[in-house]
Amino acid sequence: MNISTTILFTLIISFISYNCAISQPNESDYYQINQIYIPKEISLEVGGLAFNDKGSLGVSTRRGEVWLILNPENTKSEYIRFAHGLHEPLGLLYHEGSFFCNQRGELTQLIDEDGDNQADIYKTITKWNLNGNYHEYSYGPILLPDGQMLVTLNLGWIGYGDSGSKWRGWMLKVSQDGKVTPYATGLRSPAGFGVNAEGDIFYTENQGDWVGSGRMTHLESGDFAGNPAGLRWSAEMGSPVKLKFGDIDDTKNLSLYENQNELEGVKAPSIWFPHTLMGISTSDINFFSKKMGPFEGQMMVGDQGHSKIMRVFQEKINGVYQGVCFPFIEGFASGVLRIINNPNNDAFYVGQTNRGWGSTGQSSYALERVSWTGKIPFEIKTIKVHPEGFLLEFTQPVEKSVAKIISSYEITDFTYLYHHFYGSDVQNKESRNITDISVSEDGLNVLLKIDQFRKGYIYEIKATGILNKSGQPLLHDFGYYTLNEIPERKSNFTAKNTATSITKKVSVKHITVEPETWLNQIDVNIEIGTAPGLKFDQSSITVVAGSKVKLTFNNNDDMPHNFLLIAQNKEDEVGIAATKLGLNGAALDYVPETEAVIAHTNLLAPHEIESIYFTAPDVPGPYPFLCTFPGHYLTMRGVLTVTPKSVL
Ligand code: CU
Repeated sequence: MNISTTILFTLIISFISYNCAISQPNESDYYQINQIYIPKEISLEVGGLAFNDKGSLGVSTRRGEVWLILNPENTKSEYIRFAHGLHEPLGLLYHEGSFFCNQRGELTQLIDEDGDNQADIYKTITKWNLNGNYHEYSYGPILLPDGQMLVTLNLGWIGYGDSGSKWRGWMLKVSQDGKVTPYATGLRSPAGFGVNAEGDIFYTENQGDWVGSGRMTHLESGDFAGNPAGLRWSAEMGSPVKLKFGDIDDTKNLSLYENQNELEGVKAPSIWFPHTLMGISTSDINFFSKKMGPFEGQMMVGDQGHSKIMRVFQEKINGVYQGVCFPFIEGFASGVLRIINNPNNDAFYVGQTNRGWGSTGQSSYALERVSWTGKIPFEIKTIKVHPEGFLLEFTQPVEKSVAKIISSYEITDFTYLYHHFYGSDVQNKESRNITDISVSEDGLNVLLKIDQFRKGYIYEIKATGILNKSGQPLLHDFGYYTLNEIPERKSNFTAKNTATSITKKVSVKHITVEPETWLNQIDVNIEIGTAPGLKFDQSSITVVAGSKVKLTFNNNDDMPHNFLLIAQNKEDEVGIAATKLGLNGAALDYVPETEAVIAHTNLLAPHEIESIYFTAPDVPGPYPFLCTFPGHYLTMRGVLTVTPKSVL
């Protein structure tokens, strides 16, 4: 390359990168993630995080230790083991000179009497029975404005949620002297909870049995949030919950919102996090401080499985909480379980672990610090409901010429079924017509009027075409608004139940009956199952080219999986294509329509088994196989090696 070519080349590259900088904003331009140093000998599988009054960060771990990080902002911070021998404390609180943590079987106060940064007294505040199921996680405590503490107790898992010991599936209030007040139930996997500025209590839930998708619920005393296992204890002394186990009926194919209207005590969520589109396993709740950019007072909600944090704006309409969730920041090293603000600066800390649960970030644990760069991202700051549509507020003025065009937006609404199965497909999806657009004088607000509201539905609101004044697109151009209430109720709008279903084509790639032409001759019988940590139980299988294969996939796991055999070197392409199926993914079993898929099973529910029949490729070589359920394809994969036919 001569000099002038080099200069020209450099100019082209800088031109391209300049334009990319305008057209492709990155999260890291606004919020930066940095790893906190962890000494090699410490397995810092974070269960809880709390700053003490000296600015040290306390970290409780799933290994049963509590570490004090004396100077978490330094590159080589100093770790002191404050406590040990605890039973998987999945939460940590610092209050009036002590740490409190919730072990599986008790709430414990850790007291450092002599100030040497090591706990001298492990004091039981209160305790409860365990029945030994691995899934009996206990979370918290967090502090309530009245000085009481709040804890939650996970259900056990025996193929479905089970409350094998008292108060499993409940949120409990505990006073400093150990008095327990049962507060609410219907909880399944309540890893995250918090109190907003008004003193209202919210908890987040993971998709599962009776839970169509991840969600957040505003809990008041006596509420029932949806999973009936905990109702086993609703007649116990002190229970404020009136519902009984037998009151719950899922045979009518209703949503949770419709059940709320039929049965007193049922509480529909304030926010749904649509499964795979926002996250797959919601975790901690944290709040943006004034120093963390333009979102003061909004919530951060973690997602363990997708290694990300979402952003939530809520409003109260007719006395009921509802609101919108947006993507915020992704790319954490492990599964996001805990988020905490550093009270002394503009940073927040993200505690992570993925053992037994799996996550997009591949490290088994991590502690990361996120700081705001001081730049304002171009984002939809809030979405509020309006009597005739939705009001979108932006962080920067929008370019009015594009903001006034209907094709800059897309609005779709849908719901989930409330039933005892694990998760729910998207139900009754419809496109909404935008009937009118008005843009405010300052360009910061856009009102979209729509043809119809459906209460209890989730609104996917996309603003893909929107640009700011310098021609830059939004950093994230969509949100999901959960509509429980409409201000100034309109009379003519009635909910229709016209289901739009995606018709799945009958595919030669999914054959579940032995082909007649095989004449009962199967060359190879393959049986494959799953292993903990988002894996198949075998990663390599060998077959001879052209053989007739019967493959039986036994999904012996707690979550849905599928099996796809893929053309050589196409595994990432197919994995990404499956993720991009969006709202249609579940109806298509997360199988993208592409030549790269050779054969596949359906998406199997937990404990479902399916056999498929296919002919092995004629060309020898390695053929990847994958699960394409969102979040799984990076780890849940293996190779089917096709060997040449033996020469006779
Ligand atoms: Cu999977």
